[in-house]
Amino acid sequence: MNGDVAIRAKALRQVFGQGANAVVALDRVTLDLKRGELTLLMGPSGSGKSSLIAALGGLQVPTDGDVIVGEQSLWSKGRRQINRFRREQCGFVFQSGGLFPSLTALKQVAIPLTYIGVEKRQAYRKAREVLEEVGLGDRIDSLPGEMSGGQNQRVAIARMLSKDPNLVFCDEPTSALDSENGAVVANLLRREARSRQAMILCVTHDDRLRRFADRILQIRDGQIVQDSQTEKEGVEH
Ligand SMILES: Nc1ncnc2c1ncn2[C@@H]1O[C@H](COP(=O)(O)OP(=O)(O)OP(=O)(O)O)[C@@H](O)[C@H]1O
Ligand SMILES: [Mg+2]
Repeated sequence: MNGDVAIRAKALRQVFGQGANAVVALDRVTLDLKRGELTLLMGPSGSGKSSLIAALGGLQVPTDGDVIVGEQSLWSKGRRQINRFRREQCGFVFQSGGLFPSLTALKQVAIPLTYIGVEKRQAYRKAREVLEEVGLGDRIDSLPGEMSGGQNQRVAIARMLSKDPNLVFCDEPTSALDSENGAVVANLLRREARSRQAMILCVTHDDRLRRFADRILQIRDGQIVQDSQTEKEGVEH
């Protein structure tokens, strides 16, 4: 259901280094993130945005506090279970999509699916379907060098969505894009949050993307200093 809590941060603390050199990246962050919503995470460089994504997405063990998923503690699980959580429930998109230069869009999406055990024909069918979903149905045979930055980022999003994650973490997915492509990607993320009932948390520095968000979190010095629900607008197509 829209609005159900998908993942919860409980007094998350992340400290790097020790003694006089210690840096507090997260300072007791407590937060509920909901299904079906696109939340933007904004704040200055070094404020803790990537650290929060790393702790929530099972990438980096916090110094203190915990992450709760489905009533269960994430960080008291063993390494194997945490890896499984990340693989089966989470999707990640980073600033540069990490595409392979010599693979077509279709293969970028399909091949990773075969690696996780999806049968080949099924993987290609799924890849085609998700590429269509992100508006690249006519570019499935294109290489990264033949597409725009925005199109490539949509391929990276399609690859991430093809695993049907319910928790999606994006770290500045639009920062290498011009504003028009940034808006296309942000709108796509919001639409996917809705249609898949997924939780999508997206780090951005771009104020122009605010209008696509359901909620905007401001982080400073490792603390959430502002948490605003934005007015709901219709999704643009
Ligand atoms: N592996 C690490 N070792 C030491 N310090 C770290 C490490 N990772 C992050 N930090 C420090 O923790 C703080 C928060 O870093 P983080 O990467 O979360 O910030 P950010 O908000 O993502 O910044 P940016 O907008 O520049 O990506 C910073 O002071 C950073 O220098
Ligand atoms: Mg960062």
